[in-house]
Amino acid sequence: MSSSTQSQMGGFRQFHVSDKTLAVFELDDLCDSATGCALTGAWVWDAALVLAEAMTSHLDLEFPFAGKSVLELGAGAGLPGLTAALLGASRVVLTDVGALVPGLRRNVEANRLGDRVEVRELVWGSDESVGELFDVVVMSDVFMEAEAVAALGRTLRGVCRRRRETRVWAATEVRTWTGECPSELEKVGFGIVELTSGLSSSVAVEEEKEEGMELRSFPVYSLIPPEEEDGHVADVGDVS
Ligand SMILES: C[S@@+](CC[C@H](N)C(=O)[O-])C[C@H]1O[C@@H](n2cnc3c(N)ncnc32)[C@H](O)[C@@H]1O
Repeated sequence: MSSSTQSQMGGFRQFHVSDKTLAVFELDDLCDSATGCALTGAWVWDAALVLAEAMTSHLDLEFPFAGKSVLELGAGAGLPGLTAALLGASRVVLTDVGALVPGLRRNVEANRLGDRVEVRELVWGSDESVGELFDVVVMSDVFMEAEAVAALGRTLRGVCRRRRETRVWAATEVRTWTGECPSELEKVGFGIVELTSGLSSSVAVEEEKEEGMELRSFPVYSLIPPEEEDGHVADVGDVS
């Protein structure tokens, strides 16, 4: 991503990824009518911009997405997963709660990525297995609430158990009330390595600098899956 600049286009926002443009629709519905819960994934969060930028620059993640299979958890509007597809991923699965599935499908169709990108409901901690092997898992701004992150950790561990080499990247915004969330992943055995502090590169941060606002911090983490004593599916190839 040369930059994460975006412009308003009705309900769509545009994001520039390398020499291509992604259109991402942000929903008006801010509440899940089935559960009464806020639909926090109805729009693109700044951590998604930071992660998409890190994926695109190759400087931070040093990982070519071409030909890789990618899972996004808590995808919201799906910017990081769609970015992976634009970067050449052969298969991308965008997942979130059911109420966000239609919006995600709309974003896949708007970018004509339906041949490589699938959308699925996946609620963290549910019994539903992801059922396939992934080279990479991406997640942005999913560290919001400790109990939910504990459930996310169980899902993530299930994904990584199936393939020892799966890489996991997460970008988040540092907030006073979410500080305990990463430790929920450590409790289920993940190591957490901070790759970038994310202080300076995102468009959102640049705008804040211009307006003299206090800078927010968006670290990008690599999550190291726990060593499993049993239950590993044999590795099926090199991801590098
Ligand atoms: C702050 S939003 C971030 C959305 C998107 N990743 C982004 O950065 O723009 C948190 C996302 O996590 C999803 N989420 C929260 N709890 C979840 C759960 N139990 N199962 C699946 N997704 C969940 C929300 O629906 C939402 O899309």
